[in-house]
Amino acid sequence: MSHDHPPVVIFGCGYVGTRLAQSLLADGITVRACVRRVSLLEPLRALGAEVHYMDGARPHQYGPALGGLTRPLVVYSIPGVPDLPQGEGVRRAATASGRVGASGFIYLSSSAVYGRSELTFTEDWIDEDSSVATSDADAMLRLSDEAALQSVGQTGLRTIILRLGAIYGPALDAHHAARGARQRLRTGQYKLWDGGRHFFSRIYIDDLVRIIRIAGEKAPPSSLYVVGDDSPCRQSEYGKWLAAHLGLPDPPEADASRSSGPRNIIRGRRLRNDKLKRELGVSLHYPSYREGELAIDAIEQGAPLPKLRLSDVAEPTQSVSPAIPAPPLVTESATENVAPPPPVVSPWPKAAFAEDLGTLLFSAPRGVALLHLRKDTQAALGPAYVLVSGSARAVVSGRTVDLPVGSAVPADTVVTAESDAVLLALTATAPT
Ligand SMILES: NC(=O)c1ccc[n+]([C@@H]2O[C@H](COP(=O)([O-])OP(=O)(O)OC[C@H]3O[C@@H](n4cnc5c(N)ncnc54)[C@H](OP(=O)(O)O)[C@@H]3O)[C@@H](O)[C@H]2O)c1
Repeated sequence: MSHDHPPVVIFGCGYVGTRLAQSLLADGITVRACVRRVSLLEPLRALGAEVHYMDGARPHQYGPALGGLTRPLVVYSIPGVPDLPQGEGVRRAATASGRVGASGFIYLSSSAVYGRSELTFTEDWIDEDSSVATSDADAMLRLSDEAALQSVGQTGLRTIILRLGAIYGPALDAHHAARGARQRLRTGQYKLWDGGRHFFSRIYIDDLVRIIRIAGEKAPPSSLYVVGDDSPCRQSEYGKWLAAHLGLPDPPEADASRSSGPRNIIRGRRLRNDKLKRELGVSLHYPSYREGELAIDAIEQGAPLPKLRLSDVAEPTQSVSPAIPAPPLVTESATENVAPPPPVVSPWPKAAFAEDLGTLLFSAPRGVALLHLRKDTQAALGPAYVLVSGSARAVVSGRTVDLPVGSAVPADTVVTAESDAVLLALTATAPT
């Protein structure tokens, strides 16, 4: 894959850029990450990224940042360059990219272009054809960037704009902390605005990275996509679910019109992701906040970050998780607009025989492991066992009994497999 994939240059390599770089590097693709605080990218450098100092406020630095690479794919992930006129940073970055024959230029924009939603409450769905908020100053910052990019696109550069909903995900490394509502819920700073009735769209970081990579490969010139998961919902649904999930009380409510500050400006929307799926063939591994938050749980408890190789995108190899609860994911009014969710792919490691499940998932041993017992062999004396599948017999008070699947057998019982069997072994300490 790395042979025919172009090198990737990431202008502004923060949370999204770091996860994107991790994914590309796992596939052996050359990554050049360009930021001002290069020390924050030491973990990426250790993974093999080229880390390059660049200040987007000095536009002459874009060209050198692209030097020596053949037809790079450029991802522009700088939130804004206040020292330059609106649109100028992106225009200069895209112009420099065109000059070196870049194979594409992806601009990470925001669904903030659709304006504020707390002023006039709306249940409307948003897509690429929805009108943007030209009277909103913050929306105009993004729209100026988009317009600058589209004008450079007229000269032949393949430009792609992704208008992102709220990104959430786990901590990525020592310098890139988790994103989302968890921390604010835990510190009591999360509020449900206007009773939590506003809608929000989210996107789990690993799905976003897949989308960026697929867009880099397949998106046509001058394309634009809104990016959110399959299950936008009211803030109250998400906030209360997550609080309960974390064992916290419901978050407090607040009136947006009586508060001031950036947090009470609501830019939540229901983003319709049909075009992304139709044109790019994207299928989400985390179609709602439930799958994403459960994946964050696992990582908070010590599971490794998935490698996120592109091969995982094309041919998911992990099994469908049976453990994810399936209550309704969208409100009734949303249902007709939401495509049936694709299968949920487990982000967790697959249990291996004789491996402590605690070590596998939680880092501390739990003394529980799956065992494969071949026909006519005897399980080690000592642990208690549960017969999970196959057939086995046990000696109880000197008599041999057949064990139905699901039987729990006390410690120090002789258990013999009658056919290949799977047992759950339970010991006070980790089984060896
Ligand atoms: N997070 C969200 O929920 C969300 C939602 C919608 C859209 N977006 C957009 O998606 C993009 C990526 O988001 P993110 O969460 O990854 O952002 P982030 O974590 O804040 O990362 C931004 C990166 O840009 C770099 N940067 C900032 N100013 C720069 C400059 N003048 N020159 C060079 N590098 C500069 C920063 O590093 P240095 O400061 O070291 O240079 C950092 O590496 C941003 O444009 C963001 O606005 C994010």
